[in-house]
Amino acid sequence: MEKIILQSPYDMHLHLRDTPLLEKVAKYTAQYFSGALVMPNLNPPVDSVELALGYKERILKACNGNDFMPLMSLYLTERLDKGVLKRAKEVGIKFIKLYPKGATTGSESGVSRVLDDKILQILEYAQDLGLILSIHGESNGFSMEREAEFHPVFVELATTFPQLKIIFEHLSDARSIALVEKYSNLFATLTLHHISLCLDDVIGGGLNPHYFCKPILKTPKDRDVLLQIALNAHCKFSFGSDSAPHLRENKENAKGAAGIFSAPFALLGLAELFDKHNQLENLQAFVSENAQRIYDLPKSSKIVTLIKKATQIPQEINGIVPIFTGNSLSWSYA
Ligand code: NCD
Ligand code: ZN
Repeated sequence: MEKIILQSPYDMHLHLRDTPLLEKVAKYTAQYFSGALVMPNLNPPVDSVELALGYKERILKACNGNDFMPLMSLYLTERLDKGVLKRAKEVGIKFIKLYPKGATTGSESGVSRVLDDKILQILEYAQDLGLILSIHGESNGFSMEREAEFHPVFVELATTFPQLKIIFEHLSDARSIALVEKYSNLFATLTLHHISLCLDDVIGGGLNPHYFCKPILKTPKDRDVLLQIALNAHCKFSFGSDSAPHLRENKENAKGAAGIFSAPFALLGLAELFDKHNQLENLQAFVSENAQRIYDLPKSSKIVTLIKKATQIPQEINGIVPIFTGNSLSWSYA
């Protein structure tokens, strides 16, 4: 039987939520990944070392003894100062996450003006300490143009802080690739949904709120160009699922929450794509080596084996509708 052996896969963009949802979703990542960069957009935001360490403890508990490393991040608010960042570094927190205010779920505490002196000062400390800046790069303009409209901010930050590693999170627009390639300190994550789905999956037939996410899925062309980047395991891109669980009712009611729950099937969905395009040999680099190199992460001894056997995706997992619901994938976890 055909099989794929993945060593030490990493998910470099993940929403685990907090108790009680945390306990329902954490195991899917803890089982299949060595580690994941955990996003801090809780309510209240994770913007202190104490909050991050408390959250990390709850995550580890929810992982049920699985060998899994949550990589914690601090939410960039004005509460981050030099002292906080220094302590963060001392306790092993390497990431800060910048949300433009109002850009997405849980961004109410985000930054109103990214290039404000106060924010730039925080970023200078981050650069000095060797922290990594992860950015949700969207303006508040027209949905399909938001990512491209944010490019000047990336340019400004990448040139002002040449030693600061900056991650263009969940890159969704083909026009963003050239930018990542141009600046040596700019890197990016790619999700499974942005390389396999497009806007028509949200609004092309009946409205499908389960594929509504930020940044919004783009054109078939964007999808195909991003897919090629992933299939080639482009050295500046790593896998970040942006798995963002919301209970079914919060997706289907008037709230229309943004986010796609992909963690349980992320590696299977990737295997399907890489297999279909005869690029299985690059999957290991896309889900592990690139992350190890870009973020300076260890190779763990975790091995995940996938076998070529159909998996039927359920309608719901613990009250959450997963990606590819109702479909079948041709790979399974061994
Ligand atoms: C994420 C969430 O639900 O927390 N939603 C999403 O659509 N991706 C936040 C984010 O990463 O934008
Ligand atoms: Zn996210």
